[in-house]
Amino acid sequence: MQSEFTMPKVELHLHLEGAAPPALIQQMAHEKKVDIKGIFDQNGHYVFRDFTHFLAVYEAATSVLTQPLDFYRLTRAVLEQSASHGVIYTEAFLSPDFCGQAELGPWREYLSAIQEAAADAEKSFGIVMKGIVTCIRHFGPQKAKKASLCAAETAGDFICGFGMGGAETFGVQSDYLYGFDMAREAGLRITTHAGEWGGPESVRQAVFDLNAERLGHGVQVAEDPHLVDELIARDITLEVCPGSNVALKIYPDIRSHPIAKLRDRGVKVTVSTDDPPFFHTDMTKEYAALSHAFGWGKEDFSSLNKTAIKAAFCDTATKDTIIKRLDAE
Ligand code: ADE
Ligand code: ZN
Repeated sequence: MQSEFTMPKVELHLHLEGAAPPALIQQMAHEKKVDIKGIFDQNGHYVFRDFTHFLAVYEAATSVLTQPLDFYRLTRAVLEQSASHGVIYTEAFLSPDFCGQAELGPWREYLSAIQEAAADAEKSFGIVMKGIVTCIRHFGPQKAKKASLCAAETAGDFICGFGMGGAETFGVQSDYLYGFDMAREAGLRITTHAGEWGGPESVRQAVFDLNAERLGHGVQVAEDPHLVDELIARDITLEVCPGSNVALKIYPDIRSHPIAKLRDRGVKVTVSTDDPPFFHTDMTKEYAALSHAFGWGKEDFSSLNKTAIKAAFCDTATKDTIIKRLDAE
């Protein structure tokens, strides 16, 4: 019998580069003779002071990912890690900006390496991956348009969504509407980081201006009860990453995190890791922390996983397969 920690899990919010094992990035830096020692501490962990510095360290780490083969290695390593924590389905954020400067030709090559690694990882570790193309907010609306063109042109079975990460306080969500509309017209489902740093106002913009179906984090909505009702009425699912929020000091500790209150109010919440090695987390640790802080047990996590697979952006056949695997445990 599986415990709540070893049970099969669904993860909806994972940045592929943000999940890069530090040892892999160090190895690639060594192979390419790039000096990025400053982003690691003596124990080989990523080190940063605050969110702005985190984004800079993140971008420095990605600077060693310069060819499709690097993304093959990255994807395989990340999926092996996720699978070791029981993840059977993951939606990973993929950023064309880090794959040939968001140019369509190179993007296709990088994507094909990522897909090949995902197919190999599925065979080896039983984990299913789908991709959500993401633009990076602080790179600005022009770069975002290029990312959304990459998304629209490669939309299909594997690329099933479009989203936005990066510095949430840079501009407003609707500055990026063109890209979101282009992605939506190509059949992609929509999520955006909102209510991680930008408060309820950013959530309002994501819901009313972008018409997002899911929100990355979204947790600061807890500060506005009317908006919480709106999320419930619209059936919006939150991709909550408690360990990330605590590591970035948005909340002082897990007990102060609003995930349990939002869930009790009726908001659809799910649990993800965001950028696991940066925040010293993984899905096992997330479940353990939630269990410890709020007394959640196997039934609670099982229902969270059901919420997550229902809100997944993949096709129904994939959902049905994953639901069967969740039910079998
Ligand atoms: N990109 C990677 N991690 C992120 C986060 N927590 N917020 C916004 N953008 C990100
Ligand atoms: Zn994120």
